[in-house]
Amino acid sequence: MEYSAKFEELKSKNLSLDLTRGKPSSAQLDLSNAMGELMVKNLDKDGLDLRNYGEITGLASCRKLGSQILGCTEDLVWAGGNSSLSLMSQYLSFLLVEGNGAGPWGAQERVSVLCPVPGYDRHFKLCETFGINMIPVPLTGEGPNLEEVKRLVDEDKSIRGIWCVPKYSNPTGEVYSKKNMEGLLDIFGKSDNKSVIFWDNAYAVHDLSDQLPLDDIFDIAFKRGHEDCVVEFGSTSKITFAGAGIGFIAMSKANQALFLPFYSALMIGPDKLNQAKHVRFFQENDLMEHMKLHAEIIRPKFELVERQLKSLGLGSWTSPKGGYFVLFESEKGLARKIISYASELGLKLTPAGSTHPYGVDEDDKYIRLAPTACSLEELEAAMEVFSCCVGLAYTQG
Ligand SMILES: Cc1ncc(COP(=O)(O)O)c(C=O)c1O
Repeated sequence: MEYSAKFEELKSKNLSLDLTRGKPSSAQLDLSNAMGELMVKNLDKDGLDLRNYGEITGLASCRKLGSQILGCTEDLVWAGGNSSLSLMSQYLSFLLVEGNGAGPWGAQERVSVLCPVPGYDRHFKLCETFGINMIPVPLTGEGPNLEEVKRLVDEDKSIRGIWCVPKYSNPTGEVYSKKNMEGLLDIFGKSDNKSVIFWDNAYAVHDLSDQLPLDDIFDIAFKRGHEDCVVEFGSTSKITFAGAGIGFIAMSKANQALFLPFYSALMIGPDKLNQAKHVRFFQENDLMEHMKLHAEIIRPKFELVERQLKSLGLGSWTSPKGGYFVLFESEKGLARKIISYASELGLKLTPAGSTHPYGVDEDDKYIRLAPTACSLEELEAAMEVFSCCVGLAYTQG
């Protein structure tokens, strides 16, 4: 059927579909239901009362769990509240107000961070909210383009950091190579302004089939003497419960000493009962086996997207081996149109440009698809709509 006839047919169905956010489906959340029902003792094995204030950097046992997820040593990790994004915002507040040893970022007339693109919209929103200038830098399939990163850092002294999602990057799905990590560490570790690599390892254990271990950036950094330029984040949002899990932050001892007074001014202690429940749950359930159960639920969804895009045969797309997203790349100048057609048919997609700082995708070609939250039936319907909209945009412009 011609795309415009198909468009009219789909329109008459009054659909309501959504491929916007990378959320776990209820079937995935159900995998951790037993945790919600776990009883934990009021006192931990060292006599610490879990119901009370204190233990600002988190329970030792939970910090250990964090280190297993992030793949670094446990002395570097703090276990916080329910979200890594809020730890990122707290760390950014610290940099703006106090700084990490080279003056407050907020005292600089202009402070910039590099944003590998296509990237994660909430990193961009955080920076925009805090008045931090963002400079896009292209990704290569194994991390940011290092030549471009070096050129920018050398010529613009306002640059104080870079955002990185090193494994199954949101939304490109790429995994940073060891060589890329070494290059980033050499560029940012050698800068004299205490630059920060924001290492958002949100998808550290989120493989779709084979486990793919990521090199531990701290291990590489310690060997090069650049451990102070890395701050790592992660969480159990897509392991247990999104919004009711545990966020983690990891950094060198020197950075912990600088950050602790600021962090302690923000709160008196995290939710240790929830931390203890997570620890107990993963004593009873192997973390990687648990992640395999997630993969079994979401793999067919990624396969369905791939199948539908292949049969459409227009544009190009990623085939990630983990994470939560497929990135569709249309011909230049079509993304906005495709998204607007989809909206007419009742399919919500992330707004055009959301993969770029300030919402500006100059080529207007990237569309992030998040297939995990809906059912297979809904996803099939959503991809039928998406394919029709892409087809229509290609044929009618
Ligand atoms: C790269 C990345 N970082 C952080 C988050 C949010 O993490 P949290 O739920 O721990 O705040 C997401 C969620 O989609 C993400 O994709």
